[in-house]
Amino acid sequence: MPLDPSRLPRHVAIIMDGNGRWATARGLERLAGHRKGADSVRDVTRAAREIGLKALTLYAFSSQNWSRPPDEVLGLMQLLDEFVHTERAEILDHDIRLRAVGEIDRLPDFVRAPLLELCAVSAGNRGMILTLALSYGGRESLVDVTRRLCAAAAAGELRPDDVDEETIDRSLWTAGLPSLDLLIRTSGEQRLSNFLLWESAYAELWFTDVPWPDFDRSHLVAALTDYAQRERRFGKTSAQLRESPT
Ligand code: FPP
Repeated sequence: MPLDPSRLPRHVAIIMDGNGRWATARGLERLAGHRKGADSVRDVTRAAREIGLKALTLYAFSSQNWSRPPDEVLGLMQLLDEFVHTERAEILDHDIRLRAVGEIDRLPDFVRAPLLELCAVSAGNRGMILTLALSYGGRESLVDVTRRLCAAAAAGELRPDDVDEETIDRSLWTAGLPSLDLLIRTSGEQRLSNFLLWESAYAELWFTDVPWPDFDRSHLVAALTDYAQRERRFGKTSAQLRESPT
């Protein structure tokens, strides 16, 4: 059944879980799972663009992932660097805007520099926004917002009473992205793991047992098909929504 464009989410985020287990189950090093996972990133990004999503946000490295064994961290950084280089043409040729959210300053230079360069070069693109969450944590993001708002208040530039949800939306690393509609997590676990805590307030959640290295366009379509059948009430009743669908 074809996807109904009017029922598509605008912004989908994915917790790409299960790379390590995928590899271990095959007697491979964990890094082999991440490498296969990077192929899924390419395939799913292409599918999301072709389907017509406005924004895709991928949890590629959490603030907590720095505590993994150093060779795994280095391997992930090398895969990111490789991705930025191999996907450059795909991103620029297809009007994709690349963004990075998280504590980007913590990334090693060999990843940060080409990443920020591609973000800058693609900043004017108006097709899908591909956001990589790197050294990202939802709590860390809220601490960062709080610090900046407190500093503005201390400098007399902001009155505490003027702080509302929009102030926080505008101050988050994800500022400017459409509201998060659908959050997918692969590989069987059902938790947020410190991802997009504020942004997921009204997101629909979709879980699958499929590990990220095996996740492809068909699984994305399954998630979008399920999403299209859901009623999003945002605290209202079904009857209210029927009377005034917006
Ligand atoms: C979680 O699986 C996945 C990660 C911590 C890294 C995700 C990275 C990639 C998909 C590849 C590189 C990214 C890009 C954008 C090129 P896990 O290792 O926690 O899996 P496990 O729970 O089975 O151990």
